[in-house]
Amino acid sequence: MRKTRLGKRDASMLGLGMMGIEPLGDAEIRELFGTARALGVDVFDHADIYGSEWHACERRFGEALRLAPDERDAIVIQSKCGIRRDAHGFDCSAEHIVRQVEGSLSALRTDRLDVLLLHRPDALVEPDEVARAFDALESAGKVVAFGVSNHTPGQIELLRSAVRQPLVADQVQFGLGHAGLVAQGIAANMEGVAQSAVRDGGLVDWARLNGVRLQAWSPFRRGFFEGSLFDDGAPSALRDTLARVGASHGLTASGAATAWISRHPAEIQTVVGTTRPERLREAAAGIDARLSRSEWYEMLGAAGYTIP
Ligand SMILES: NC(=O)c1ccc[n+]([C@@H]2O[C@H](COP(=O)([O-])OP(=O)(O)OC[C@H]3O[C@@H](n4cnc5c(N)ncnc54)[C@H](OP(=O)(O)O)[C@@H]3O)[C@@H](O)[C@H]2O)c1
Repeated sequence: MRKTRLGKRDASMLGLGMMGIEPLGDAEIRELFGTARALGVDVFDHADIYGSEWHACERRFGEALRLAPDERDAIVIQSKCGIRRDAHGFDCSAEHIVRQVEGSLSALRTDRLDVLLLHRPDALVEPDEVARAFDALESAGKVVAFGVSNHTPGQIELLRSAVRQPLVADQVQFGLGHAGLVAQGIAANMEGVAQSAVRDGGLVDWARLNGVRLQAWSPFRRGFFEGSLFDDGAPSALRDTLARVGASHGLTASGAATAWISRHPAEIQTVVGTTRPERLREAAAGIDARLSRSEWYEMLGAAGYTIP
């Protein structure tokens, strides 16, 4: 499995998202985790909000796996906070961040998060409060590295004005079903092409220049939970191209979809959410494949984007 840098350590280019594990039994979680580890996956992505109540998926992970110290040390446990489930909107106040991390550590049965992400930009954010929370969590050894999710360059710069720690990652919605992050730049300046509108602040180029690792969430979905790349709602040209190009590399369509993300020179990590070991294997195979430039652009075009 290809690796990339995530803060001060190496981490697998494929991460496994834990958003859907609540209904799984202990044995199923162990099988999924064991499959991931055998494939070389070492990033496990959580959030306080995943599941039917605070920390539900984190708790299932902690309970089912009860990791030995060496197993724990070998992986990156990443979690997020900042979305309220008991109130409206988002909350990046110091009090909320610290309380949620304490809850995550207890649910996960671990003494530290390797990466903590602020889940969504908080319009009411006070950078000094974020800095206070991060300093407290870092000095207590409860969080090793910090980052964000769904943030623009400007929002990250604002946090950087107060936060001392490097912000190592930005986890964003990205894949062939929502490829605006890369589709915008190639259509810049084009009159009458909706794709040319800059809606993310030029995040991909900014992240490359600033050493911020991008992570792609919902890599197989279309839009915001509207369906998958592989169902009848996806463009037939995309389904055909994924199958054909994938087959030429010995991959399934989902392997082709992860190959498309990992081909980008920004070394974007892909965070898949499957709960099925076989699908995880298919996705992992794509990470180590290398698409040609032509295949990469053909897939972007088949997904419905303009290649001027
Ligand atoms: N930062 C954020 O704001 C944010 C938001 C959402 C998610 N996330 C993270 O990203 C992770 C992944 O997100 P996700 O679960 O939405 O994305 P995903 O990996 O794109 O999965 C979407 C769906 O596709 C299905 N799928 C996978 N392979 C398939 C195949 N070959 N054929 C048909 N269907 C297939 C999966 O179902 P099966 O389980 O049945 O395979 C899953 O329900 C989450 O677990 C979470 O950790 C982060």
